[in-house]
Amino acid sequence: MSLPGSLYGLSRRSLLGSALALGACQPAAQSQTPTVSLPPLKSIAPFPVGTAVQAVHLTDPSLARLIVAQASQLTPEWEMKMEYIVRDDGTFRFEAPDAIAAFARANGLGLFGHTLVWYAQTSPAFERLDEGRVSFAQAYRNYIHAVVGRYRGQAVGWDVVNEAVAEDGEGWRDSLWSQRLGAFEHMVLAFQNAREADPSARLFLNDYNLEWIPKKRATFLRLVERLLAAGAPIDGVGTQTHVAADQAPGEIARTIAELGQFGLQVHVSEFDVSLSRAQGLRLNRAELERQQAALYAEAAEAFMALPPRQRFAFSFWGLRDSESWLKREDGRDTPLPFDDQGRPKAAAAAWAAQVG
Ligand code: G3I
Repeated sequence: MSLPGSLYGLSRRSLLGSALALGACQPAAQSQTPTVSLPPLKSIAPFPVGTAVQAVHLTDPSLARLIVAQASQLTPEWEMKMEYIVRDDGTFRFEAPDAIAAFARANGLGLFGHTLVWYAQTSPAFERLDEGRVSFAQAYRNYIHAVVGRYRGQAVGWDVVNEAVAEDGEGWRDSLWSQRLGAFEHMVLAFQNAREADPSARLFLNDYNLEWIPKKRATFLRLVERLLAAGAPIDGVGTQTHVAADQAPGEIARTIAELGQFGLQVHVSEFDVSLSRAQGLRLNRAELERQQAALYAEAAEAFMALPPRQRFAFSFWGLRDSESWLKREDGRDTPLPFDDQGRPKAAAAAWAAQVG
């Protein structure tokens, strides 16, 4: 395994640094939904079933068992991002992503890298880069090569650029990356560097609210076209699909169908359906859970309508409600396919009925 290195490359300082490093809605009660009995999701689906994980999840025996039983590929929820890997001094740490990668290998699961370039995550190491020692572009390259290269041959793919489109769909986001390397050029560079670092990994542009904001979806699609026209080595498009139970029917399906127009791989990359965020509906919990199940079914049906070669994976942003990021907003939210005890919910059955 290569040494972690740093933004500055494998200098003596970063070797020491890395040596040291190697040595770092509706107020609702809990779901009343009866659980159902289902075969494992990955045994039903004719495509990879993914889930977000954190290294700490893998030390919980019941959760680890659920992950291995239900999923065929793992997306590190945060520990393959710059916020974890790049220390303030520019050295890298990989303990947690290495643990997730090892767990995936040991259990015959795929590994999907998330995410290399994101407007929401920069690092003091980039912001305060000592450009007497290395150019910004070279540091950007060093980082991508160090991270993607470390999992070369294991990672099935990467979210190379995450959430590049502006919140309202009016153009692209501004970021440290766009400011330093160019609004479009930083994206092309990211894809090119990732391709060089691991020619076997499929490279994705990933974004969210594409089903919620048609203007954002349109801008995303135009960006894909522009990347393709520029010869950027993009293999797929990811639609995160974090939705709420008041999501208008049909928009998820429309989004997935439109994303399929380029013949690229399509990844439903972070699927969950929040009940608590469904403020548009004055429904009781049972009615919200029926809405949730209908959206699970819609997404599954639309994914199945893609040509098989374009179905990269359908990834949930966690399997068990108890681990959902949405719990931080409202501890009563139940957005995922399995309840806190790891039992499949009606939403999981509705999803399974469309893919089996
Ligand atoms: O576990 C550590 C804890 O030990 C430490 O004390 C604490 C304070 O530093 O941090 C904890 O880690 C946090 C981690 O979530 C686990 O809870 C990180 O700080 C926090 O940044 C991280 O947030 C993640 C967020 O992305 C930012 O990376 C969420 O888990 C994750 O669900 C969320 O996922 C995003 C996707 O990447 C992109 N699409 C939207 C999605 C939801 O926001």
